[in-house]
Amino acid sequence: MAAQPTADLNFIPEVAAPSVPLGPVAEAARQGLTASPKYLPAWLFYDANGSRLFERITELPEYYLTRTERAIFAGYADGIFAAASAAYQQATEGTVSSSAEMPGKLRVVELGAGTATKTGILLAAAVRAQGETEYLPIDVSPEALQEACATLERTLNSVAVRPQVANYVTDTLNLRPHTGPTLALYIGSSIGNFSPDEAESILRNLRAQLRPGDSLLLGTDLVKDRAVLEAAYCDAAMVTEAFNLNVLRRLNREIGASFDLAAFRHVAHFNAAKSRIEMHLKSVCRQTVRIPSLHLSVSFEQGETIHTENSYKFTAAFITGLLQASGFAPAKTWTDEKNWFAVTLATAV
Ligand code: AVI
Repeated sequence: MAAQPTADLNFIPEVAAPSVPLGPVAEAARQGLTASPKYLPAWLFYDANGSRLFERITELPEYYLTRTERAIFAGYADGIFAAASAAYQQATEGTVSSSAEMPGKLRVVELGAGTATKTGILLAAAVRAQGETEYLPIDVSPEALQEACATLERTLNSVAVRPQVANYVTDTLNLRPHTGPTLALYIGSSIGNFSPDEAESILRNLRAQLRPGDSLLLGTDLVKDRAVLEAAYCDAAMVTEAFNLNVLRRLNREIGASFDLAAFRHVAHFNAAKSRIEMHLKSVCRQTVRIPSLHLSVSFEQGETIHTENSYKFTAAFITGLLQASGFAPAKTWTDEKNWFAVTLATAV
């Protein structure tokens, strides 16, 4: 007999469910906290406080990802730009048949740009090579984009910033047509916060907006020693713990939940079978949390967790497979001397 889906007996709807449509935060909380096992989607981390905490994480001694990727950009930005330009030239040689399409300059697009702190290094290389450069940062947060524009306009005045507020996971990207090459950046191992299927779908959507010969620059955190990985997500200053718990603070503030933050602990461990760091919030006791706006009471056993994030760690073979499945041909990879982080340039085919 086929297995029946199991009902989660740990939540109790208090009265009939509300009939008005829920906002995205409430809907995510309702879905995740009534599931078994319980989860919350990682995008909930990034309210204003969570974004500030993430910026602090990127500066922690244990969190090697940001500084390692930045060092790769600092060492190889000119080579990355040259390789992207060469890939386009090679792919389009002999194909520009009419004067209607004059090849233009390379433009840079960035998915999930945030405040674009590392991007300046790559944009500076583009300006060195071709002068005026167009930069299209895409992000869900208008505040982060505003900060990115202000910083880049102050520091790199040959860059024309054209921000686009959009969710690259759920929305169609709709990039403006362009006559020259496009270099799309998806850096910071942001792709690691999605399952392999979701990652492929994000890259396929991006590929649909590009033309053969355009490039993708993908930043990925590599599989390494468990202790190094786990320390990066469980730092001594406990900033990652605050970042994780902030999701409960957000639910208290935005949808009137009654989480006692002292009754949950931050847990991060490397799941080697799935090649990912998992972050959870573990209930320290048996408890019930009320969310009146959802007409819901959520019960926790002692030790039960809410799964709040996956951060996948990649191998070279997996990166190649993912890119090929999404319509890209890997062209060149740059890494650091410890081989902890990879920056891969891939050509749209
Ligand atoms: C944004 N993302 C790539 C970070 C990561 O490493 O997966 C988010 C993060 N979570 C805890 N620390 C950092």
